[in-house]
Amino acid sequence: MSAASSPFPSTVVTGGTIGSIVIGCKLQVLHGNPPEYRKAEILSIRPTPTPEDATRSEYYVHYSDYNKRLDEWVAPERLNLLGEIEYPKLKKPKTVLAGIGKETGKGSEPGTPGSTANGGRVAKNNRKSNLSKAATAGKAGDAASPAPGTPGTPGGAATPSVAGNKRKASAMDEAGGSSQEKEGQVPMIKVSGEDEDEDDDGQGGDDTPGQDENSTGEYSKEREIEKLRTSGSMTQDPHEVARVKNLNLIQIGKHEVETWYFSPYPVEYAHLPIIYICEFCLSYFPAVKQLSRHRTKCSLQHPPGNEIYRKDNISFFEIDGRKQKVYCRNLCLLSKLFLDHKALYYDVDPFLFYVMTVRDEDGAHLIGYFSKEKESSEQYNVACILTLPQYQRMGYGRLLIAFSYELSKVEKRLGSPEKPLSDLGLLSYRAFWSEAIVSLLLEQHKTGVELSIDDIANRTAFQPTDVLHTLQTLNALKYYHGQYVIVLSETVIKNAERAMKKTRREIDPRALVWKPIHFTATQLRFL
Ligand code: ACO
Ligand code: ZN
Repeated sequence: MSAASSPFPSTVVTGGTIGSIVIGCKLQVLHGNPPEYRKAEILSIRPTPTPEDATRSEYYVHYSDYNKRLDEWVAPERLNLLGEIEYPKLKKPKTVLAGIGKETGKGSEPGTPGSTANGGRVAKNNRKSNLSKAATAGKAGDAASPAPGTPGTPGGAATPSVAGNKRKASAMDEAGGSSQEKEGQVPMIKVSGEDEDEDDDGQGGDDTPGQDENSTGEYSKEREIEKLRTSGSMTQDPHEVARVKNLNLIQIGKHEVETWYFSPYPVEYAHLPIIYICEFCLSYFPAVKQLSRHRTKCSLQHPPGNEIYRKDNISFFEIDGRKQKVYCRNLCLLSKLFLDHKALYYDVDPFLFYVMTVRDEDGAHLIGYFSKEKESSEQYNVACILTLPQYQRMGYGRLLIAFSYELSKVEKRLGSPEKPLSDLGLLSYRAFWSEAIVSLLLEQHKTGVELSIDDIANRTAFQPTDVLHTLQTLNALKYYHGQYVIVLSETVIKNAERAMKKTRREIDPRALVWKPIHFTATQLRFL
């Protein structure tokens, strides 16, 4: 199938043949269960993985007005060739100056079959997040190239299309159970402070191949969710991110998880049906056999680093990006699969990673983490935050956020998450801030002492702007007798009371054994 330019200059036609479909075409594509047609753009085309179907192509589609998480490879049968097809504009070839310069039209198409998925790029990045040097997929390969003999070659075939909807990974029973260790029986885990034994090749190990208000003036969560869902989460330049997802499925611990976004795992891993990740050291493997062999050698049963918090079966480990480079890079690679609004950095040195685990008889299993700059000029207390999809909507994100503010309280600083936030990040932070501020105000109301925005900030470790925005979102700032006062509506109070009745895990500050690490100017300079 050729990726030749469309025969139609920016035309909308009714009906077409499969052969006329090129990158950039927009048409109706079947999606969901029950299936329905949604307008989508073709982002990439590749031959079907099965050799007997070699003449067929499959199509990577982005559903217009929906989050990129839903992007997927589809079979030609799912394209509505009878309906309207919008063909992309033909690019005017630029004039070639006599003898010099190149015909810039060439190669400037959005993609060609074969440029495909793993050719996606994470572009040069000017952000200061944890995940520093943006890498192309190819470069990632340099950093984490597979061992000799690894199956799969760049552009290699074998990948079945990702059919249907996102499959929700089964949630692990994290209730703890009778086998759970009693608090205090096992001393908290401390590492000696030695640097990771690493060959610094970026691989996983030596055997690793590598505001809304509604008509009543109330904050409407539903509307906000709808807005976020349809407007997309990203504030970035779309050209700065890889548009095509490279991995389909990962297996980690007991879970099989569908990936959401591109992450620069080595190109050789792109389009393997599934990649296997050691849940403790986060090394990755193309086959289950290799993972099993690795597990006979890998003695880790918890993340590297110091255990700085333990309550019930939840622990937090603090990991220094400089000391545990390989682990932290693997963590960044893994998290990039679910984070789209940040570029991936290989320079993990300037960051500390706070990894949350749930413990059972097999070890301390990764649930999520957040990273934090060792020194943030903007006073960010979180760079990136993630709950692995199989654990989402179970209150763990709230725990991660709460923990980040507990650290800020110990540091006697006010913190805020690094911007931009993703759609899910914004929802989670808004929910957390609202609940914390409203419950503080309700509690304070009983004492009769009034709180200012700065007071709220100091009590919660939230930055005043976050307090202000949250109050605005709750429509709780009223201008009264020449000054602003905080007034909580009945609905806000009822919602808060309902939320407070939910049984939830909380962070217990008494279970935190931690002193902020102070890095000297010299240490920071050499990061
Ligand atoms: N739809 C609607 N509301 C949601 C959703 C959702 N999908 N997810 C979270 N919320 C809101 C809800 O109010 C929820 O409370 P409720 O369940 O009582 O209604 C609240 O957020 C907290 O939910 P948790 O279960 O505690 O959060 P979770 O464990 O799912 O983690 C997180 C939230 C970390 C944002 C997760 O969705 C995630 O990892 N997403 C992918 C990565 C990402 O986008 N990270 C944030 C990037 S911003 C940054 O890094 C600074
Ligand atoms: Zn391992």
